[in-house]
Amino acid sequence: MPDSSSYPLNIVILAAGKGTRMHSSTPKVLHKLAGTSLLAHVINTAESLNPSKIIVVYGYGGEAVPQAFAGKNITWVKQTEQLGTGHAVQQTVPYLDTDATTLILLGDVPLVSADRCKSLIEAAHQQLALLTVIKPEPKGYGRIVRNEQCLPQRIVEEKDATEAERAIKEVNSGIIAVANTHLKNWLTRLDNNNAQREYYLTDIVAMAANDCVAINAEVCDDEWQVTGINSKLDLAAVERVYQTRLAQKLLQGGVTLHDPARLDIRGSLTTGQDVEIDVGCIFEGEVTLADGVKIGAYCVIKDASIGANTIVAPFSHIDQATIANDCRIGPYARIRPGTELNTAAHIGNFVEIKNSQIDTGSKVNHLSYVGDTTVGKNVNIGAGVITCNYDGVNKSRTVIGDNAFIGSDAQLIAPVTIGANATIGAGSTISKDAPAGELTVSRGRQVTVPGWKRPVKK
Ligand code: UD1
Ligand code: MG
Repeated sequence: MPDSSSYPLNIVILAAGKGTRMHSSTPKVLHKLAGTSLLAHVINTAESLNPSKIIVVYGYGGEAVPQAFAGKNITWVKQTEQLGTGHAVQQTVPYLDTDATTLILLGDVPLVSADRCKSLIEAAHQQLALLTVIKPEPKGYGRIVRNEQCLPQRIVEEKDATEAERAIKEVNSGIIAVANTHLKNWLTRLDNNNAQREYYLTDIVAMAANDCVAINAEVCDDEWQVTGINSKLDLAAVERVYQTRLAQKLLQGGVTLHDPARLDIRGSLTTGQDVEIDVGCIFEGEVTLADGVKIGAYCVIKDASIGANTIVAPFSHIDQATIANDCRIGPYARIRPGTELNTAAHIGNFVEIKNSQIDTGSKVNHLSYVGDTTVGKNVNIGAGVITCNYDGVNKSRTVIGDNAFIGSDAQLIAPVTIGANATIGAGSTISKDAPAGELTVSRGRQVTVPGWKRPVKK
């Protein structure tokens, strides 16, 4: 058999349907699974197959669907009226390459794997290949009707099926691969003489049987790969399966998950050795945890890399930050975009850090806001210190030199520089640069008023 990879591949993704049962104004294919839209999952799989073309048929929700994928190399084809899956594929005919094989994917079947698709594409060379699945509860699906030699003859939709056909448990996943020469011909012959008055793509199977074109039905042994999402119930079920599989991969790679059922990954999580993750954590975007990192319960970590042996205590949020090794963060810390923590920095409870660099060994342990600030090495920032980085219009930077000590409850009004080894007295409001090595204090002198009496009730 010739190697199918030497023939061009077209991929058509059907995504025009409304998804009535989602009860949402958002088109079904834009609903999210693991933080990524259903259609994006399918497009990612399609891209990994290196097709010469990806064609997406859209309709319900109008331009919102193509807009969600701006910049992608996709041919968008609008199906103004949803007259059936066959009608949807008919819209793509002008874009199909004559000598290619087309793989038809469904925008609401997000978990089909690239390997599964590859094998279907190979089986379709010059022919037709169907991905089927055995469903103990086949209701709602098209049934695969086979002849005495067990060869597929046609697909009958639930609404058109006889009692006997409805008993068939092998169903159509909707994912089909077919040689374009045949597909183009068959599409011209579709009609809507059926219970739903729709143009069924599935009618091409009977045409293939009639034309003596081989029909290869591959039975998928993993039901979830071909599960379509029609409701929020389906979405929640597929989300759990997806998360369980991600958790299993992490466990297999040696990560300790205190409970694999209480972890959500919405993007990609890369882990080193001896990483430990407590319950209820959410990882979004691209997160890297180096060797020995420990993440406490209920942390939300997005687009961040965390260095070896750093400990993130419970209820901490980290977003778009780079954190070196041996740091301690939290509990209840908020690390915002643009933060870089160098080795062994400590960020404690109720501390917010934004767009700041904190150098080696420096500590901000309690109740502080540090924004747009460069902090040197071994600096101690006392409880309740605020960098006043915003004058209502512009943001300004604060610079704190190595070994500085900022007393509790000081306010540093940016732009301002605190020199190396400087000490700032507790409660000071610093609006001018503080020199290196000196104590700077700005506050009223303490007085005691002799004989002062508390007011009494009149
Ligand atoms: C379809 C199959 C059925 C299969 C089932 C698997 C047909 C006739 N039936 O049935 O054999 O078991 O999928 O889930 O193909 N779509 C369009 N335009 C349309 C109609 C549908 O783009 O005019 C898209 C939908 O957005 C969806 C996909 O095609 O992504 C499938 O459509 P759906 O209406 O769910 O088909 P089913 O009746 O479930
Ligand atoms: Mg469906």
